[in-house]
Amino acid sequence: MSAPSMTLFHNPASPFVRKVLVLLHETGQQERVALQTVLVTPINPIEQLNDGNPLGKIPALRLADGSVIHDSRVIFDYFDYQHVGNPLIPRDGSARWRRLTLASTADGIMDASVVVRYETALRPVEKHWEQWLEEQRNKIRRALGMLEQDAIAELASHFDVAAISVACALGYLDYRHPDLEWRSSHPKLAAWYAEVCLRPSMLATQPPA
Ligand code: BEZ
Repeated sequence: MSAPSMTLFHNPASPFVRKVLVLLHETGQQERVALQTVLVTPINPIEQLNDGNPLGKIPALRLADGSVIHDSRVIFDYFDYQHVGNPLIPRDGSARWRRLTLASTADGIMDASVVVRYETALRPVEKHWEQWLEEQRNKIRRALGMLEQDAIAELASHFDVAAISVACALGYLDYRHPDLEWRSSHPKLAAWYAEVCLRPSMLATQPPA
């Protein structure tokens, strides 16, 4: 196999990056990209990352022609068009919108989880905005409640954009927010996750210890 022609700017702690890495594993494309780790935070922008990516998004993918595409949703879609197996995002019909909406719910869990992480890990404790933090946690709780109530059978049916996104969101809750103890009130989600986190793609992309 020739050297990878694409570079994925990545941080192994990011659940958004993990979504893309899981897709690459699931579709046998992991050799196509070189990983470049960037330890960017909202208060530590990295100049090199902003080239062609003015928002400094992670993940960002530099293509062979030097252009950059982002964010995780776009990169996921990009690679989903480049393998010969079943698409991981349905191409059309109501399934497309439903699976993308479930994936968006998972992305929202990640958004809220990451901003809570930044607020609690980076901001001085006397500046923490507790009401705002609690509303972010409430978003996570509502989204988990919906997945538990309405989506288990759908998640179990395919390991596609929806299931990969939810699995990465739950993995991030375990990683950064074990205090939320999401399993205790979401037993069906917990049982589903216990199975999918044993997939080689999930094992190979676990966040750092
Ligand atoms: C984290 O360390 O939790 C993190 C790093 C990069 C992106 C998102 C989260």
